[in-house]
Amino acid sequence: MVAGDEPSCGLSWGGAEVRSDFQLHAGDHFFGLGERGGPLDKRGTVLLNWNQDIPDHEPWTDPLYQSHPFVLVVNECSAYGVFLDDPRRSWFDLGKTSLSAWSFGVEGNELNYYFVAGPSAAEVLGRYAALVGPTPLPPRWALGYHQCRWGYKSAARIRRLARDFRRQRVPCDALWLDIDHMDGYRCFTWNRRRFPQPRRLVQELRRQGFRTVVIVDPGIKREPRYAVYDEGTKGGHFCRGADGKTYVGEAWPGRCVFPDFTRPATREWWGRLYRDLVEDGVAGFWNDMNEPADFSQPEHTLPLSVRMHNDGELSDHRRLHNVYGMQMARATFEGLSRLRPKERPFVLTRAGFAGVQRYAAVWTGDNQSRWEHLRMSVPMLLNLGLSNVIFCGADIGGFGRTGSAELFTRWLQLGIFYPFCRVHTAGGPEQDPLSYGPKHERLNRRAIELRYRLLPYLYTEFEHAAATGLPLMRPLLLDFPRHPAVHRAEYEFMFGRQLLAAPVLEEGARVRSFILPAGDWYDFARGALVRPRAAAGKGANLWTAEPQKATADLLPVDWPVTLNSIPLFARGGAIVPLQPVRQHTDDSPPDPLILRVFPGTGRGWCYLDDGATISYREGAYLREEYAADSRRGQARLHLVRRQGEPCFAPRSYVVEFMGVGNSPSAVMLDGARLRPCRAAGLQAGSWHFDGRRRVLRVALDALGSGAVVECRTRR
Ligand code: GLC
Repeated sequence: MVAGDEPSCGLSWGGAEVRSDFQLHAGDHFFGLGERGGPLDKRGTVLLNWNQDIPDHEPWTDPLYQSHPFVLVVNECSAYGVFLDDPRRSWFDLGKTSLSAWSFGVEGNELNYYFVAGPSAAEVLGRYAALVGPTPLPPRWALGYHQCRWGYKSAARIRRLARDFRRQRVPCDALWLDIDHMDGYRCFTWNRRRFPQPRRLVQELRRQGFRTVVIVDPGIKREPRYAVYDEGTKGGHFCRGADGKTYVGEAWPGRCVFPDFTRPATREWWGRLYRDLVEDGVAGFWNDMNEPADFSQPEHTLPLSVRMHNDGELSDHRRLHNVYGMQMARATFEGLSRLRPKERPFVLTRAGFAGVQRYAAVWTGDNQSRWEHLRMSVPMLLNLGLSNVIFCGADIGGFGRTGSAELFTRWLQLGIFYPFCRVHTAGGPEQDPLSYGPKHERLNRRAIELRYRLLPYLYTEFEHAAATGLPLMRPLLLDFPRHPAVHRAEYEFMFGRQLLAAPVLEEGARVRSFILPAGDWYDFARGALVRPRAAAGKGANLWTAEPQKATADLLPVDWPVTLNSIPLFARGGAIVPLQPVRQHTDDSPPDPLILRVFPGTGRGWCYLDDGATISYREGAYLREEYAADSRRGQARLHLVRRQGEPCFAPRSYVVEFMGVGNSPSAVMLDGARLRPCRAAGLQAGSWHFDGRRRVLRVALDALGSGAVVECRTRR
């Protein structure tokens, strides 16, 4: 049996809540449940669903900013999911108070949940995605590197930042403006003293390849003659208290009123408010404080009795609290879709509920510049991914407190694998890739350059994630479900279908210990086969306190590291599309498209489109599928299929065969011999073999579907 009610209780009512108890099996592991600190496997915990603004949180603090009442239960033989489709305050008890049952319950007297069938975890996630809605493709720039800080207080500061990034050649796509850009924290305004000509600034940045993103909070300053307040009052857009009067709370601007985003007319109005900023050229919007945070209340949110429209079925904040932030993000997303109908919106939100991914990317709120918080972000983002939130990230470098140069670099080396990759901090010393001296600047640049080199792969894998509901950054248990111990691998992850990342997460580390699942794995940078090392006793083993033994399914690895190391591995037979380093994503299309091919037999993909508009939905994209096959004495890459618009086809390719044992005797395209050349003279139709690194590079013009690139080596 896959799952079943606990025989003695099943469904029950008690006090002010209704609950359901499921049988708990010895091998059950629990994942998903959105944004949580603590271990990846949530077995043995009780978790609440109640969005909370909680700046000083610790790895064990619960709940945090988002609620995803969806649990993925995985055991040796199968997987299933349960989605509690109710925004009210609810809880999951995952075998903490009972040895024979796990349970969930919600305030009220009705229970509305979905049982999501497997049998595999991947199938559960696919079905859950179909239920709560897919992630739209973001604009490509949103997958670049983002620089943010609470404290960029003037146009001059932003200009300097832009200049430094370009001058020092550290790739970057977006500069963010926090609440400092507003006039007295009034949303949708500019502080004209600090930012006298915002449109000019935004355009100037755009010419240098930077997008501008600004913050918009829900707390609207209660101030007659402030247009947003006046209009909102006239339109009946603000939440009212139980006494029928507009509710007044407190946020950054002081006394504030709060739009009722559960009301369609208010969402529409809110969406229109972005018009001026959009006309100024602002590319993306950041919705914060939308739990909603209310500084005037002991509970730090609106009183539960505040009334809400609820799309016509009048209700209150007690019921709708958990969807407030998602409805705000929805209003923003839908407004942007109306204002720029052809373009893909980019919205970031702090609060959210199941399904928020339809409208916004998500970040995990106010973490701290501490090693624990760096580590905590990994299982947290993995579980967000297992809750279908594909586009997520944590503040790289940490938001609160001040960290060391080493922490920042290590965080960046991890953060380049966050689907959403943004550095953010609250004041204090500068926190960006350039601010830790020349040695760290080099290391930081190298990390960000890796993200930009990986961009064709990242974009392809994002598109695949959006289409399937499988996360981009995901735990090993999705791809390698068979080994029970894989559930505990919580500090390493798959980055798309082909790569496994095990970034360094310990201060002063000399060795990074992790496991590799069954099969051949290659060092991404060098192409060398990874071999087991004696695991016991060398350095901290993050995966488990126990020394690991190699089994048929798992390979424990102790990987020597320096400050420069970003441990990244490719599956045998992987084909990874790459591009030369770019300073931003619009710099130029991937030309050449580099296909890095690892020894073995496997498949690879590349998805290309205009990266900006929604025309991909009408078929304006190109998908290529490749197959690799290399055995002793021969390596082969086949462009198996090309589907879609030829206008997106790469104009040139470089095929990089990694781990080629001996120097080639012949390299051919569709049977015709290509010419050898020096490294520096690599041009279409020629190849170069780097004997020391064992890499064969073959440069080619545009390829036709069915093309075969082949190499024979001397025995
Ligand atoms: C909140 C946000 C943080 C932001 C700050 C000021 O604390 O979580 O990211 O910088 O508000 O707007």
